[in-house]
Amino acid sequence: MTADIGFIGAGKMGGALIGGLLSKRVFEADRIVACTGSEESRRRVAEEYGIRTVPGPAEVCSESRIIVLAVKPKQVPEVVSEMGDVSGKILVSVVAGLTVEQLKSYVPDVKIVRVMPNHCCMVLEGAMGYCDDGTLTDSERDEVAGILGSVGLAVSVSESEMDIVTGIAGSSPAFIYLVIDAMADAGVLNGLKRDAAIRLAAQSVLGAAKMVLETGKHPDILRDEVCSPGGTTIEGVRELEDRGLRAAMIAAVDVTAEKSRRMTRG
Ligand SMILES: NC(=O)c1ccc[n+]([C@@H]2O[C@H](COP(=O)([O-])OP(=O)(O)OC[C@H]3O[C@@H](n4cnc5c(N)ncnc54)[C@H](OP(=O)(O)O)[C@@H]3O)[C@@H](O)[C@H]2O)c1
Repeated sequence: MTADIGFIGAGKMGGALIGGLLSKRVFEADRIVACTGSEESRRRVAEEYGIRTVPGPAEVCSESRIIVLAVKPKQVPEVVSEMGDVSGKILVSVVAGLTVEQLKSYVPDVKIVRVMPNHCCMVLEGAMGYCDDGTLTDSERDEVAGILGSVGLAVSVSESEMDIVTGIAGSSPAFIYLVIDAMADAGVLNGLKRDAAIRLAAQSVLGAAKMVLETGKHPDILRDEVCSPGGTTIEGVRELEDRGLRAAMIAAVDVTAEKSRRMTRG
C-alpha cells in the first residue's frame, strides 16, 4: 500500500482533517492521498496540502489502509459503489446521520468508525463523538483516536449517544456564535467599536472554555470564583438566570438531539 490514509472528499471537513494530520505530524504528506469531485478542487487540494491526489474512490481505497469518507450524504451511494474491495480496512465516516448499519449495508467487510464532528475542526479545536462497529483491534482504535485527536477533542461514545453529541458538539457552535454576537451588541451599546467587542467576546468564550478543560473544575465552581459578593458579575448572572439562559440552552441542545433522532429514523 502506498499510503496510510486516504480521503474520499477533501472539502471543509476532509480538508480540516488533512490539515490536522499534517500539522500534528500524525502522517507525513507522502502517506496521505485524496480524491475529490472535480479536477479543479483536486488541483487545489494537492497544492494546498502537498499531498498526492488520485482520480477517484477506487484508487483511494486500493492505496490506503485507512479510508476517510468525507463527502456530502447525497454523494455517498455513488462513491461507495466505486470503492472496490475494502475488506479488512478501516473506514472512518464523518457523514452526518449515516449510521454504522447503513454503512455496513453499503460496504459489509470493512471496519467502520462513525464520527460526529463539528466545524471547529477547521481551526483544530473541534469537538466530536465517535463510535465503531466493534471489529477494530485495540491498536487500530488507538490509531483512529490519534487521527481524530489531531483536529480537536474526540470522545468515544455509543452509537445511541450520537444524536445528543450532534446537539452538544455538532450544532452548539451556532448557539455560541449567537452568544458572542449578543455580547458584542452589548459592547457596541456601551460605546465599544464592533470589531473590538466581537474579539473581546470571542476571546472570553475561548478563555472560559479553556478554564473548564484545563483546570478540570466544575463550571459552577469557576462561576463562583468570578462572582465577588455584592459585585458586578453576580448582577449579570442574576439577569441571565431571570431571563432563562440556562433553560433556553438546555432546550436548544435537547431539541437539536431530538431532531437528529427523527432524521436518523428517517
Ligand atoms: N462541515 C462541517 O462543519 C461538518 C460537520 C459535521 C459533519 N460534516 C460532514 O462532513 C461531510 C463533508 O462535509 P463538508 O462540509 O466537508 O462538505 P464539502 O466542503 O462540500 O466537501 C465535500 C467533498 O466531497 C468531494 N466530492 C464530491 N463528490 C465526490 C465524488 N463523487 N467523489 C469524491 N469526492 C467527491 C468534494 O469535491 P468538490 O469540491 O470537487 O465537489 C469535496 O471535496 C458531510 O457528510 C457532512 O455531513 C461536516
